[in-house]
Amino acid sequence: MCGIVGYIGNRQAAPILLDGLSKLEYRGYDSAGIAVYNGEKIDMVKARGRLKVLGELSHGGEILPGTVGIGHTRWATHGSPSDKNAHPHFNKDSSIVVVHNGIIENYLKLKKKLERKGYEFVSETDTEVIAHLLDYYYTGNPLQAVTKIMHRMEGSYALGIIFRDHPDEVYAVRKDSPLIVGHTDDGSIIASDVPAVLKYTRNVYFIENEEIVRLTREDMEFFTVDEEPIEKTPVKIDWDINAAEKGGYEHFMLKEMYEQPKAITDTFSPRIKNGKIVIEELGMSEEDIQSIRKIMIVACGSAYHTGVTSKYIFEDLARIPVEVDLASEFRYRNPILDAGTLVLVISQSGETADTLAALRESKKRGARVLGIVNVVGSSIAREADNVMYTWAGPEIAVATTKAYSAQLIALYLLAMKFANIRGILPDEGLSRMLEELRALPCQVEMLLNNKERIQRFANRYLAAKDIFFIGRGIDYAISLEGSLKLKEISYIHSEAYAAGELKHGTISLVEKGTLVASVLTQRELYKKMISNMEEVRTRGAFVLAVTNEGNTEVERVADYVIYIPETNKYFTNSLAIIPLQLFGYYISVGRGCDVDKPRNLAKSVTVE
Ligand code: F6R
Repeated sequence: MCGIVGYIGNRQAAPILLDGLSKLEYRGYDSAGIAVYNGEKIDMVKARGRLKVLGELSHGGEILPGTVGIGHTRWATHGSPSDKNAHPHFNKDSSIVVVHNGIIENYLKLKKKLERKGYEFVSETDTEVIAHLLDYYYTGNPLQAVTKIMHRMEGSYALGIIFRDHPDEVYAVRKDSPLIVGHTDDGSIIASDVPAVLKYTRNVYFIENEEIVRLTREDMEFFTVDEEPIEKTPVKIDWDINAAEKGGYEHFMLKEMYEQPKAITDTFSPRIKNGKIVIEELGMSEEDIQSIRKIMIVACGSAYHTGVTSKYIFEDLARIPVEVDLASEFRYRNPILDAGTLVLVISQSGETADTLAALRESKKRGARVLGIVNVVGSSIAREADNVMYTWAGPEIAVATTKAYSAQLIALYLLAMKFANIRGILPDEGLSRMLEELRALPCQVEMLLNNKERIQRFANRYLAAKDIFFIGRGIDYAISLEGSLKLKEISYIHSEAYAAGELKHGTISLVEKGTLVASVLTQRELYKKMISNMEEVRTRGAFVLAVTNEGNTEVERVADYVIYIPETNKYFTNSLAIIPLQLFGYYISVGRGCDVDKPRNLAKSVTVE
């Protein structure tokens, strides 16, 4: 979603802002802008479109000389993507400039009040309200003006602010939208996400809710909303800088698909010790695990799909009742939770607004919350009672692949551990499963190496209008993700159905040549799936099957078969998803879509 970068130091600010924003491009945006103090006044360039446009307009930042500046990539919420709605935004005499991530929920009320006081608005954004509100409260003391507006604004915000009359300072503020600050060799930097600062510093401070930072060239001071100073300690970021670069691959998505064997290994191997699953960060005793009465899984998008997969595993393997819900639904539906409910919130970014709100709601209702999170130090990681990290490393492509795979592994580990401790999965059974788990990285690699075959197949469907995915049980969960991967990056309409549900309506959409991708990895459901495949094939569908090696019977009803290696029945998602990710990827490439930054999408959805 939107990105913020700010800099104050001894170097030219604009090139640093453009570079930092380029590292946040993956978050999704539709316009961008930078503002720099030039020693006398604040200059600004902003434009609809990609950073390339901004780079050209500003001559790589050269037309904005100065060592203090803020920049922004905007993903439109209030007001269409346009030059005038792009950030930064000025107050009336251009002496205060603001960039903003988040949504000011009461902006209309504030706007009306400001208009009554004579303020004129040039954009349709909620952000412009912030610039005018600062103007209204500013009487020479920036910190005071900032705290005053914080008392007036409702909603979420991460802000970068410069006051022309205090040109040796940059202000950063956060409420429910992430922001970090750090010292560079020659100044200070702010950003909404780690990749933007990695080149300049490894030691960052995570700004907490309702904290304010005053950055100068040499120093940074932290304050509460009551202007009380606060002490903070920096966190060291260990990310490999290359992990945030493309490293020779055509797209981040392809690179990240190839990083899946490592993401899987890194997520399970530190947690297997002497044949046991040890998840120290779980913070739950054996008694705690035995007393779980229900697991409630809450997430969005692909993370939700890993939750759907794990429902089948937790229930079948560990015999614990599981509910899975979309965070955006859960948070408003008065869910029934108690101290016997373990809530799992799953999130790559750790910043998804709905998932974070669901976490807070769950804690309020007395449930224990375990976060399964990829981004270290993110809001969900910090607010959950306990956090189990997926060690997938930075994921840049908007469409998740390696974080998804790592989430599955974390969930398998939890299900196996719970089943073992609750006495349902004996040690020998656990050892066998761990062997099968250890084999997954090599098996994933093998499937990835088969990419040319998938590419050839994908090339036949570049003009498809609709594609359906069907499966039963875990295979239904795999279908949900396969379908999302395809549609989000190729813009081809696609739906996933529980195969048995097809004839209750959807089958009427199947016509001659419609591609129906059928996933059948659950042995006990083969026969049922084969009947469903026959049903669509007789109606003209072209049937693609993804199934286990050896299930040759499927060739009778499928037009094209992709085999996955033998694994434990609970782990098949980790393998079957690989050809489906590749399929979505190659369709997107073949159609000339922006694979890593699909239209209208954002990597981290920090608004609800
Ligand atoms: C799809 C995708 C999204 C995310 C969803 C949740 O490829 O990446 O559906 O899974 O937006 O995001 P996180 O995991 O960051 O909470």
